[in-house]
Amino acid sequence: MTIAFNKRSTAEQVTEGVDLHGKVALVTGVNSGIGTETLRILALRGAHVIGTARTLEKARAGCSVAPDMTTPLACELTDLKSVRNCAEAVHQKFDRLDIIVANAGIMALPKLQQANGLEMQFATNHLGHFLLVAQLLGMLADDARVVMVSSEGHRSAPAGGIQFDNLSGEAGYSPLRAYGQSKLANILFAKALAKRVADGVAVSALHPGVIATNLGRHIPKWIALPLALVFFPMAKTVAQGAATSCLLATHPDYAGVKGSYFSDCKPASESAYAKDEELAERLWKVSEELCGTVVAI
Ligand SMILES: NC(=O)c1ccc[n+]([C@@H]2O[C@H](COP(=O)([O-])OP(=O)(O)OC[C@H]3O[C@@H](n4cnc5c(N)ncnc54)[C@H](OP(=O)(O)O)[C@@H]3O)[C@@H](O)[C@H]2O)c1
Repeated sequence: MTIAFNKRSTAEQVTEGVDLHGKVALVTGVNSGIGTETLRILALRGAHVIGTARTLEKARAGCSVAPDMTTPLACELTDLKSVRNCAEAVHQKFDRLDIIVANAGIMALPKLQQANGLEMQFATNHLGHFLLVAQLLGMLADDARVVMVSSEGHRSAPAGGIQFDNLSGEAGYSPLRAYGQSKLANILFAKALAKRVADGVAVSALHPGVIATNLGRHIPKWIALPLALVFFPMAKTVAQGAATSCLLATHPDYAGVKGSYFSDCKPASESAYAKDEELAERLWKVSEELCGTVVAI
């Protein structure tokens, strides 16, 4: 029976009765915000959770909310070697993976910053996760779930959706458009991945809601204060912000999802660019080239 959860549901509520004992999950960005709560809830329901963060120290701090149920690993998403090392460690320590929640992210860096010649939000939010998930695909259980934490901000992507001729950001940079592009890339990746994985593997993307976390740290105060006033009535707690991720990662009703987009614990409508299959395929190919990896599935 489908239970009607909503924007006020917490991660604990949407996973009530779910038994994850024997399952292995991986969550990125566990030292802060929604990632810490996602890790805590998956562990509370019995999963062993691999918690990643930029450094091992930060991953340990995130995992400290459930020390006996977690394995901390370093994964700096802008450093493809660090991503490969993390995936290698997962392969060495575990023989399968049931859940991946690609949660880590940065938003609206005020000035252009780059990693390996790529605009930093694209490099972090999209490319690092593309490579990490790609390296782990061979370990996915038959009924595994891959959950991409995107954002309603994907609607602020630039004209064309993904600026393939400006992935460096050097031909023009807007903090929110670059964030939008990277979050659009999360949804396009989910669509392209869903087409490639085995029948039983679920892939989804989601908007977690508006939650006061460290994500807003780069937004100047003069913008943040009026924004806070506008968004305050719809803001969620962190426990509510982790609900849609945890629902998609665990709930029996969402076992067969193939690339759909969710918000407030229910299906939602994504932008036209996010539905563009050609764009998704082009992004997949370009991402393979940028990582120097042809993804074998
Ligand atoms: N909060 C919201 O209102 C909201 C709305 C829509 C979507 N989202 C999405 O929700 C996700 C979680 O965000 P949050 O609100 O929980 O923000 P947060 O508290 O800032 O957490 C983000 C996490 O990502 C990590 N991270 C950032 N850059 C990284 C990198 N290069 N390598 C590895 N880890 C990195 C951060 O590590 P450090 O602490 O070391 O930087 C942190 O652990 C993000 O994908 C975000 O886009 C959030």
